[in-house]
Amino acid sequence: MDRTRLARAVLGLLDPETAHALTLWALRHGLGPARAVPDDPVLAVRLWGRDFANPLGLAAGFDKNATVIGPTLRWGFGFVEVGSITPAPQPGNPRPRVFRLAEDGAVINRLGFPSLGLAAAVARIGRWRAHAEAKGLPAGLLGVNLGTNRDSPDPAADYAEGARALAPFADYLAVNVSSPNTPGLRALQGRDQLARIVGQVRAAIAALPAAAQPPLLVKIAPDLSAAAISEIAAVAVELKLAGLIVGNTTVARPETLAGGHQGEAGGLSGRPLFAPSTRVLGEIYRLTEGRVPLIGVGGVGGAADAYAKIRAGASLVQLYTALIYQGPGLVAEITAGLAALLRRDGFSHVSEAVGADHR
Ligand code: FNR
Repeated sequence: MDRTRLARAVLGLLDPETAHALTLWALRHGLGPARAVPDDPVLAVRLWGRDFANPLGLAAGFDKNATVIGPTLRWGFGFVEVGSITPAPQPGNPRPRVFRLAEDGAVINRLGFPSLGLAAAVARIGRWRAHAEAKGLPAGLLGVNLGTNRDSPDPAADYAEGARALAPFADYLAVNVSSPNTPGLRALQGRDQLARIVGQVRAAIAALPAAAQPPLLVKIAPDLSAAAISEIAAVAVELKLAGLIVGNTTVARPETLAGGHQGEAGGLSGRPLFAPSTRVLGEIYRLTEGRVPLIGVGGVGGAADAYAKIRAGASLVQLYTALIYQGPGLVAEITAGLAALLRRDGFSHVSEAVGADHR
């Protein structure tokens, strides 16, 4: 058994949160695998004035405190998204709060935004940028996902505070209004609440120098009703959002679930989320007529899944849960496989395949 497979086998025996902490520790100490293969040019994506070497990113939640940006980029991701980061540090919910559903290729988590807070994130991300510059490393692309403190009286002010502190470091900012584990958070997806949040965050960003004003995205839930999906699509166009991330974990429990732990409260991610989240993604692409760039996330576990998200309307794709079961080698497997699928179907760029299923 090679080293990474052995590591995964050992990690699989540990409680998931302990396994995750150990993984982050190993990455911080240079023990992670790295891939030096350049991406196939067919995978290049230009969006928001940024050049992505490939469209595959690490979803929020893996690197909540921005401690392993460099090591995870070296797995071959085109970008990584850190967070969710809350303004003040907070511990999150009591443990246990992460559960593997191995038979389903899924996870349920109710972490509730454990976060070291903004000041720690600013210090870490600033150090990473300075280190990359000093070493002349290619700048990796970084998304920053903002959360709110559990006891916050004014969530919009929390997002604005996060944006003010972290915008200068971010290639994009994502406002997370869709975690199921912070009471009341998903109610912020309504038209008025979203408009208020986006207004406040934009005001905070507008006060910064032009070079420190990243595009603003909103991350939504996959559990929305048809009416709510229409409303969000309309609001995204009206507010001229830079993009939507579709989407977060689901509170639904599909009947197909075989694994234990399915009765645990929290958000379900991984394979069972692929079909429903891709459906919502396609619906939003259709409703917005492709005018709002979309990041497709939910249940991606292979190149065909990433390709399906793109054809449904995603300009970029993210994953998290499949890494737990398949390890970091999955990243290079997906990017290589995706390049082959694009070429097979005669596309010379990812952008040509975005939304292809709707044409
Ligand atoms: C997440 N996710 C998440 N999303 C977010 O916006 N902020 C967060 O802090 C977290 N935290 C988090 C922790 C854990 C343990 C998991 C599994 C997931 C959601 C994640 O970014 C993604 O939207 C979903 O997991 C769906 O993608 P996958 O995992 O099916 O590829």
